[in-house]
Amino acid sequence: MLEEVDDQPPEIAAESADEQSAESQTRDQIAEETREQGEEALADPEDPTSPGVEEPDEPADAAPETRERQSRSRRGDAQAQPVPAEDNQLRIAFIGGTGPEGLGLAMRLARSGNMVYIGSRTEERAEEAIAKVKAQAPNGDVFGGLNREGAERADVVFITVPWDAHEATLTELADAIGDKVLVDVVVPMAFGDKDGPRAVDLDDGSAAEQARRIAPDAKVISAFHHLDGGQLQRVDRPMQGDVLVCGDHKQAKKQVMDLVEQIEWVRALDAGSLANSRYLENWTVVLIHLNKIYKAHSGVRITGI
Ligand SMILES: NC(=O)c1ccc[n+]([C@@H]2O[C@H](COP(=O)([O-])OP(=O)(O)OC[C@H]3O[C@@H](n4cnc5c(N)ncnc54)[C@H](OP(=O)(O)O)[C@@H]3O)[C@@H](O)[C@H]2O)c1
Repeated sequence: MLEEVDDQPPEIAAESADEQSAESQTRDQIAEETREQGEEALADPEDPTSPGVEEPDEPADAAPETRERQSRSRRGDAQAQPVPAEDNQLRIAFIGGTGPEGLGLAMRLARSGNMVYIGSRTEERAEEAIAKVKAQAPNGDVFGGLNREGAERADVVFITVPWDAHEATLTELADAIGDKVLVDVVVPMAFGDKDGPRAVDLDDGSAAEQARRIAPDAKVISAFHHLDGGQLQRVDRPMQGDVLVCGDHKQAKKQVMDLVEQIEWVRALDAGSLANSRYLENWTVVLIHLNKIYKAHSGVRITGI
């Protein structure tokens, strides 16, 4: 599933204009190589497996720290950051962690020092997935098993199942998730149309808001919709793009934004309340169409911030 890639990201030594120029060149270079490789992990529209509490946010207060973290991420320092001490280690469970998105996120977050748990409906699939993650995160703390155990044991729970399994899976696990941080990565999509996948209208507004209805005690945060699972698994390459994060719990959102920026070169942006999740989720459908048209792995990069 994983391909060897010979090239390494170039050192980006200078700040400001030089840094931006080098970054932009590297992005272009990687984008060009990616197009050449023509992989379509998130690109196949026929393949359904390919891809509150109201608290006022204070983006202004967080801005200087965020800029510093963004700068670190762009320079590629993230990999060099110290592995958190065990006491500080986050335990992250992936419900449906055996697919491309859960695997890729687990690999990246295990490499940055978190304890990851690959959840599955079967022990066998969890075992296979653990081996894949360990192969890419040899020093990582990687565990796995049934989804319920992961939801019970984790500090942060990611839901990475297909849309048509979202409601049933969360209904089954809501009690185990309790009041934990629940990161919803799911994109509601309908397939079978000759024009490719399309976004679906939901009574709840978005998958993330559906999650909040089903698991009302959980601190639901919506994020990671625009990071391609195939690219995430290529851990020898920096990821590209911004991750827009929305949610109504200030501390939980900050915790998830910190996790985002553990992924090399990826920047977290505060995208407001959970009600904005519908736009993030729908945009992934557009990315899938872009990928098909351009034979690419597109992502999102916000300018002006
Ligand atoms: N792939 C991407 O690049 C990408 C990018 C952004 C967002 N996303 C979103 O992230 C989520 C995961 O994507 P993915 O491509 O990794 O998904 P996937 O491969 O289709 O599914 C992930 C895992 O979910 C479990 N699952 C499948 N059907 C299920 C069901 N009916 N009930 C319970 N569990 C079920 C399976 O694990 P077990 O069989 O082991 O239980 C499967 O390996 C999706 O909602 C997708 O929209 C994906």
